[in-house]
Amino acid sequence: MKVSVFRKENFNAAHRLYNPAWSDDVNNDVFGKCALPNYHGHNYELQVKVTGEIDEATGYVMDMKVLSELIQQFIIERFDHKNLNLDTEEFKTLNPTAENIAVVIYNLLRPQIDKKVELQVRLYETPRNFVEYPV
Ligand code: NI
Repeated sequence: MKVSVFRKENFNAAHRLYNPAWSDDVNNDVFGKCALPNYHGHNYELQVKVTGEIDEATGYVMDMKVLSELIQQFIIERFDHKNLNLDTEEFKTLNPTAENIAVVIYNLLRPQIDKKVELQVRLYETPRNFVEYPV
């Protein structure tokens, strides 16, 4: 009997979407205002989903306090109030789209969480735009 548990956290970060292989005109056509050179911010909402069997001893799939602390330590401290393009190693050369941010977050968290459970990341860039990884 598998159950999913979820933890929500928020972080604020700035980014610019830009492909250096393209001209400014093409970047503007593809990314619109997100390509503006002076960056802009988002209030990201991160939802981390953990799916697994309920542990008989604890009654938990995963201790949510531990999950919260892992998200704080490995994600929030790394990205909160940062300029993703300029201030982080992960996005120095990787375009910081919601898709790429979700994959990076998953790859940072996965090694920290027991392999017995499944992990999925959902990232809201705005209340209406969100992505999930893995699908
Ligand atoms: Ni944006």
